[in-house]
Amino acid sequence: MKDVLDQLEAKRSAARMGGGEARIEAQHAKGKLTARERIEMLLDDGSFEEWDMFVEHRCTDFGMAEKKIPGDGVVTGHGTINGRLVYVFSKDFTVFGGSLSETHAQKIVKIQKAAIQNGAPIIGIFDAGGARIQEGVASLGGYADIFLQNTLASGVVPQISMIMGPCAGGDVYSPAITDFIFMVKDTSYMYVTGPDVVKTVTNETVTHEELGGASVHAKKSGVADGAFENDLEALVQIRRLIDFLPLSNRETPPKRPSYDTADRQEPSLDTLVPSNPNKPYDIKELIEKVADEGDFFEIAPDYGSNIVTGFGRLDGQPVGFVANQPMSLAGVLDIDASRKAGRFVRFCDAFNIPVVTFVDVPGFLPGTKQEYGGLIKHGAKLLFAYAEATVPKLTVITRKAYGGAYDVMSSKHLRGDVNYAWPTAEIAVMGAKGAAEIIHRKDLGDADKMAAHTKEYEDRFANPFVAAGRGYIDDVIMPHNTRKRLIQALRTLKNKKCENPWKKHDNIPL
Ligand code: HXC
Repeated sequence: MKDVLDQLEAKRSAARMGGGEARIEAQHAKGKLTARERIEMLLDDGSFEEWDMFVEHRCTDFGMAEKKIPGDGVVTGHGTINGRLVYVFSKDFTVFGGSLSETHAQKIVKIQKAAIQNGAPIIGIFDAGGARIQEGVASLGGYADIFLQNTLASGVVPQISMIMGPCAGGDVYSPAITDFIFMVKDTSYMYVTGPDVVKTVTNETVTHEELGGASVHAKKSGVADGAFENDLEALVQIRRLIDFLPLSNRETPPKRPSYDTADRQEPSLDTLVPSNPNKPYDIKELIEKVADEGDFFEIAPDYGSNIVTGFGRLDGQPVGFVANQPMSLAGVLDIDASRKAGRFVRFCDAFNIPVVTFVDVPGFLPGTKQEYGGLIKHGAKLLFAYAEATVPKLTVITRKAYGGAYDVMSSKHLRGDVNYAWPTAEIAVMGAKGAAEIIHRKDLGDADKMAAHTKEYEDRFANPFVAAGRGYIDDVIMPHNTRKRLIQALRTLKNKKCENPWKKHDNIPL
């Protein structure tokens, strides 16, 4: 019996070495952790249970029959984060460059199916060279099997992708379907085709970083939802994110006791909005002053920064915050902001997370660049996301709520449950100057008359009371009481029941 136990231990030790000492050292030399080290950092101590450690590929072409490494380039299993179940797979770059074979794909699919069935998030860690070139079409089939499970899992369990090395070719589309993608600065990159192919096809010369580094995807393309300094920071932050999320759509998000009192007042909010309506202020200050213990996990901070999205808690209850940011492009809605926030609102709705919206929006961004880029369709994504959402929706208008953007930003008309305004709110079709210039075009040459017309429009609409008089705003609240009023509203919505008409699925303007 002892022999058998020793043999098992020896086999396990061999599997844990992946591609061997030299490749592990090379991995460390690049500033990267190995696949198993990453899992250890991500999960609670000693909670990881590995599956399929002894799986090997079945390829016999190109001399592969003699090259078999147990585990076949991906470490899979489950464990806990702060005591809550998660499934993980972590690509092992030391084994055939983490490339995907048929059996490697089967291991990932097994994890995905278990996560969907048992209702727990899936965290995928990517560091790989794409399809296992020696396996050809079997590898392509394996990718599609994974994509199918990603799609079936979407909206059922949270899916998070961590890009911690190369992620190219077939590897990019699994993360693309998941809810959040995070990258590590300088050591990770994502692209469909690499710099060599780009050079051949388009004659462009680009580096890996220029084509698909964290600086590209977290800022320009919006493919990534954030970038971290190194592997360790990324893994610690993902533990933090998981704490805000339910394990599946069958649960409510995890409430936890808060040491922050529900009726905490914040007098500094009374002077947050500057008296000059064109002066910016930082909307993140409002979020941080309202949220429990000021804890805010921001999603996509560097992309579409004219809108802020992220998770926090109110009264111990996780909520998603969406807020126009006057510090960036005056908080206007453009293509990037609409896509970013639309996707965030849909995530919250899919996973029973109430949405709290802070509004200070001058409208949609004008111009050919935006119109040619399809602002109409992209703006409609955010509108659609808010309209279809059935989770509790709380809205506070702090300053401007102009035009179509007023409607879009979780207005009463889109089933906003509780809509408040600060006394500084201006709810109107457009800014007073623009409005006066259109209504009184004939007086455009007369500065005094125009000033009077502008003033008249301001007096009529640059306040929350016209909207409040119609019931579009439930109350005009003191800024310092915002946290208290939001928490009271959230409590009334605990048993909210709201269903959309039956449909196979909707057809959001993609
Ligand atoms: C088999 C691979 C591999 C792959 C890397 N390796 N990629 N083996 N299939 N796709 C092996 C290498 O041969 C090498 O083995 C080891 O992994 C480490 O690779 P290096 O090249 O030495 O590492 P590095 O210099 O860091 O470069 C990493 C890399 C490069 C940029 C990822 O390996 C690379 O370009 N790989 C090929 C990428 C690619 O074209 N993949 C196919 C995409 S097509 P040895 O034993 O020599 O150390 C695709 C289509 C699917 O994915 C579409 C489905 C929808």
